[in-house]
Amino acid sequence: MKIKIAPSILSADFANMGAAVKKIEECGADLIHCDIMDGSFVEPITFGSQMLKNIRPLTKLPLDAHLMVEHPKTQIKFFAEAGADIITVHYEACAKISESYLEETLRLIKSCGVKCGVVVNPDVPVENIFPVFPLVDMVLIMSVYPGYGGQKFIPETLEKIKKAREYAQVTGKPDMDIEVDGGVSLDNAQIIKSAGANVLVAGSAIFNSTDMQKTIAELKR
Ligand code: DX5
Ligand code: ZN
Repeated sequence: MKIKIAPSILSADFANMGAAVKKIEECGADLIHCDIMDGSFVEPITFGSQMLKNIRPLTKLPLDAHLMVEHPKTQIKFFAEAGADIITVHYEACAKISESYLEETLRLIKSCGVKCGVVVNPDVPVENIFPVFPLVDMVLIMSVYPGYGGQKFIPETLEKIKKAREYAQVTGKPDMDIEVDGGVSLDNAQIIKSAGANVLVAGSAIFNSTDMQKTIAELKR
């Protein structure tokens, strides 16, 4: 499977976001991972759809919007209009609202002509999201608790990546994108890919490196 690297702009300099986006595209990124935090689902507040709207004309790369928000359904139209190519929503946020909220939100994303994905936190069994596998374009396995960049990869999540890839095969979607987010580095990229992930998010590993192009190429290899 093609390995895709999604640098997280959470680790970029927010005062120079346009330049950061152009730079990661030049350095071989495949997607731009945008971490949307609402100060409630997770403690920090980052940015909203306006940021995506402003970076949209600066890059040809797909914009991957990771919504860490309490009420994702209310945000879909804004991110779709802003030009997101894929929107991922947290299972935990949706399950708290109602049993049907996750599926409704995924269908709403699709109806806007945008790809959709579901995210699970490290302490939530991956089996909980199996029912929506037929609906999603991507599954995102959090390998740290969301909220902050620069945390340590939680190795227990490798088993969940394996289970997700196996279940994708069972459901007839062997090539489904499985993304991993949190603590991805040159030291663990290989085991993460071997477990079955094909989309690697990396914030600090890319933005703190002295040679972004080399780091992206090595994460991919
Ligand atoms: C964490 C975010 C991540 C974060 C990853 O809540 O979802 O995308 O930016 O950063 P690193 O790669 O530094 O762990
Ligand atoms: Zn993220």
